[in-house]
Amino acid sequence: MCGIFAYLGPKTNAPELVIEGLKKLEYRGYDSWGVAAQANNRIDSCKKVGKISAYQVGDHNFAASSLAIGHSRWATHGGVTEANAHPHFNADHSLALVHNGIIENYAEIRADLESKGHKFVSQTDTESIVHLIDFHLKSMSLEEAVKKAMSEMHGRYAILLIKADEQKIIAARRGSPLIIGIGQGEFFVGSDIPAFLEYTNQVNYLDDDQMVIIDQEKAQFYDLKTNSPIEKRLITIEWQASQAEKGDYPHFMIKEIMEQKETIRRALEQDDQEIQKIAEAIKGAFGTYLVGCGTAGKVCLAATYQFSHIGHRHVNFAVGSEFSSLQDFIKDRSLMIAVSQSGETADTLEAIHAAKSKGAKVLSIINVKGSTMDRESDFALHIKAGPEKAVASTKATTAQMAVLTLLAYACAGRLEAGKKLLLDTQSQINDMLNPRYEDHIRTLADQIAKVESMYIIGKGVNYAIALESAIKLQEISYIHAEGFASGELKHGPIALISQSTPVIALISNDQSRKDVLNNCQEVKARGAYVIGIAPENDAVFDFWIKVPDAGEAQGIVNIIPIQLLAYHLGLLRKNDPDMPRNLAKSVTVK
Ligand code: M6R
Repeated sequence: MCGIFAYLGPKTNAPELVIEGLKKLEYRGYDSWGVAAQANNRIDSCKKVGKISAYQVGDHNFAASSLAIGHSRWATHGGVTEANAHPHFNADHSLALVHNGIIENYAEIRADLESKGHKFVSQTDTESIVHLIDFHLKSMSLEEAVKKAMSEMHGRYAILLIKADEQKIIAARRGSPLIIGIGQGEFFVGSDIPAFLEYTNQVNYLDDDQMVIIDQEKAQFYDLKTNSPIEKRLITIEWQASQAEKGDYPHFMIKEIMEQKETIRRALEQDDQEIQKIAEAIKGAFGTYLVGCGTAGKVCLAATYQFSHIGHRHVNFAVGSEFSSLQDFIKDRSLMIAVSQSGETADTLEAIHAAKSKGAKVLSIINVKGSTMDRESDFALHIKAGPEKAVASTKATTAQMAVLTLLAYACAGRLEAGKKLLLDTQSQINDMLNPRYEDHIRTLADQIAKVESMYIIGKGVNYAIALESAIKLQEISYIHAEGFASGELKHGPIALISQSTPVIALISNDQSRKDVLNNCQEVKARGAYVIGIAPENDAVFDFWIKVPDAGEAQGIVNIIPIQLLAYHLGLLRKNDPDMPRNLAKSVTVK
């Protein structure tokens, strides 16, 4: 949450360059933004409410500058106002600071500093950091003041600080991501890699309780706990800058949906021996726990069915934020499988820390190589989906499902059968994602764009996909959508059905089909408009969306029409599909 970007180097348009970088990170937070640039021993700044994508070069008259920091905000403490937008400053504006995270003891810090005469102008937790550094600066160097302030703050943070009369950026981290891009005589800092990928693919990750001081010459890292310098090895990022661009598509969401024509195949490019080793770890573990949040959590739930049905293993599932209430069962022989696109989700990371503190091993299934989860896990499988920038997860979801399905097959000693099924599924998806298919779904979107509520039902793995469908429809269309196990309808939710309520049934060609069709009859008898997503048509459907029969991979194909439906409903309802209200791509706060 919150995008952070900074530049230090020979170019003299640092503020505009930072604004362009922030535009690439806008999916991390988009309610307000701000930039601070150092020029002529003073700090020039610009803060605005609204999306940074609306900014045009020249909207603010920045002085020439080679050092600037910026931030696009997802509000936590304090409303969406210019005063609460970052950067925040000390009293004489000689320090400017941007922050991603939450400072839990900010109220105490603020009260103490106010009693010492500091004047605050915002409601944010962030402003207390810059005042605290300013306070310590009276008796120590800038570096020492930052270190001291960091030691006094509780919570999660990634911060960047600049000072009016020093050509340097100081960055520090605990819990929230920061990556340093090392160019030719120039430096970038971003909360995600795509922000600076067009300039460099050479990076260093800042780990927890580390600080980096970047000047014109170098980036020097420090361990804040031992107060000693550390050396880091440069990491090369394999993504291309063009992968993080929209290309000819109007939105990232539709681009990423269409990329599913090949992302399953890429997800399958795994080392067989590694997959077998992980399957053995699952089989030998004293309890395996799948953990993820939001869509990744639904992928985990879907995988519990796959592990049971295909792999004949019982695996547990918890959403990241609930794991702390279930961790009593974790032992040193347990295994956690953490699923995440970003590898930075705070609730999932907290679950990982809890599991590791009990001696359990952690496998991460992630998209972003080098992310915190990647670095903190015992094993990692990368899903290789390429940058996913739309807030709504699409291609990462199906790639995660493919890797977990593969693992379920490996647990049953049938890895090759799993690969064949998933490669066949890939070619089915390739055929399915054609313009006529999208038109058919657009027709449905037209019909239901004005409804107030809709329900999605499924059985087995399709129950998990029904829950994921609800997330997709909620976040992009803002229509009230809920997913249910189809058999549960008659135990309560059926009371919600009235004339013309859309009910979407997700169906597999297996023994569950008959039950779900019966449940469709039950809602139809009460007036529902039944939409079937199924390999075969049925008289109960008022609208049928054909999907290929993908056998054990049916969950993967069944979510794709829902992604398209959510996208087109979003467009029809004049929503921004890439940046839905109140959300952000990477949820790095608890
Ligand atoms: O990066 P992660 O996969 O850990 O993110 C988890 C959720 O925040 C994420 O899946 C969220 O639910 C998506 N916006 C759903 O489309």
